[in-house]
Amino acid sequence: MKAIAYDRYGPPSTIRLRDLDRPTVGDHEVLVRVRAAGVDPGVLIFLTGRPYLVRLAAGLRRPRVPVLGRDVAGVVTEVGARVTRLRPGDEVYGTSLRGSYAEFTATHERRLAAKPTNLTFAQAAAVPISGMTALRAVRDTGQVRPGHRVLVIGAAGGVGSQAVQIAKAYGASVTGVCNPTAIDAVRALGADEVLDYTREEIDRDGPVYDVVIDTGGNRPLSLLRRALAPRGTLALVGGDWTRGAVLGGYGRQVLGAPLLSTVVGHRLRAVSARERVEDLEALRDLIESGALTPPIERSYPLAETADALRHFTDGHPIGKIVITVDAPG
Ligand SMILES: NC(=O)c1ccc[n+]([C@@H]2O[C@H](COP(=O)([O-])OP(=O)(O)OC[C@H]3O[C@@H](n4cnc5c(N)ncnc54)[C@H](OP(=O)(O)O)[C@@H]3O)[C@@H](O)[C@H]2O)c1
Repeated sequence: MKAIAYDRYGPPSTIRLRDLDRPTVGDHEVLVRVRAAGVDPGVLIFLTGRPYLVRLAAGLRRPRVPVLGRDVAGVVTEVGARVTRLRPGDEVYGTSLRGSYAEFTATHERRLAAKPTNLTFAQAAAVPISGMTALRAVRDTGQVRPGHRVLVIGAAGGVGSQAVQIAKAYGASVTGVCNPTAIDAVRALGADEVLDYTREEIDRDGPVYDVVIDTGGNRPLSLLRRALAPRGTLALVGGDWTRGAVLGGYGRQVLGAPLLSTVVGHRLRAVSARERVEDLEALRDLIESGALTPPIERSYPLAETADALRHFTDGHPIGKIVITVDAPG
């Protein structure tokens, strides 16, 4: 099968389109014919091996998994001996730890759910990691309720664009923060108000937000707290991963917020997505009800994955970048 492979950490030019053997399936795994795969910062982190912390999971000296990519949408073609939920022919979406930028990937059945019927494969591949993270931030960490005022920083990004829509579905009044080129798009997602981060700061209106969801990852905790209502919740999703070789910008999450939270009235919480079927199913309900549609900036064929990754890093995309895979005969 064709796959986007890498055998050392580096920039997008490191990757190669190669012929590899199809993965074999374990007892609880299924083989998926990949139709589309999403791009998110995690892919760049695994590709570059930066911040170094990621190498504890990805391989200390070189990548342990040779194929890039995690989000996937496609069709089940084979099931392992103990798989109970899925059958060949099922259209699915979810994640794979064995690389999704390939014609086939094998993944645990509990990482997949039925694809929303009203989405294309490309749209479905844009959802899993970003959507599960957005859902966690809004529903679990933020505990957003009808009437809450919610601020979403990075509202045009992969997580933010879905967090805006999910917070609206939960009955909140939403303010999105984005760059000026994305203002109309963020309004179209349903945001009631939009702040242009090149002109206005998030504490413009004082401490008014019940929940602040930060996917931008580059503001100090003190500034974020100035926008939070007394007893409000800060949901820290992002750390600017390009900042700092060891922890990236994730120091706020792993050190600052937990320590500060013990002495201030605000709830300061790091959001970590659990990749699980229940959340994919909850997202499918939101999608099929019309409350959530992942915005796609652009799709690239598998052979142009390096261009897709460069565009993701430098192009200020509005919504998601997706890799599409032609179904082999
Ligand atoms: N905790 C988890 O489990 C988890 C899961 C997924 C992602 N993440 C993290 O969450 C972060 C966001 O992920 P993503 O997929 O949404 O990335 P993304 O698609 O790159 O979105 C990030 C957004 O932040 C915006 N931004 C940058 N600087 C900003 C500023 N000063 N003010 C407001 N917005 C700003 C960017 O806008 P511009 O285009 O204008 O720069 C972009 O739209 C990343 O750090 C990622 O590693 C964490």
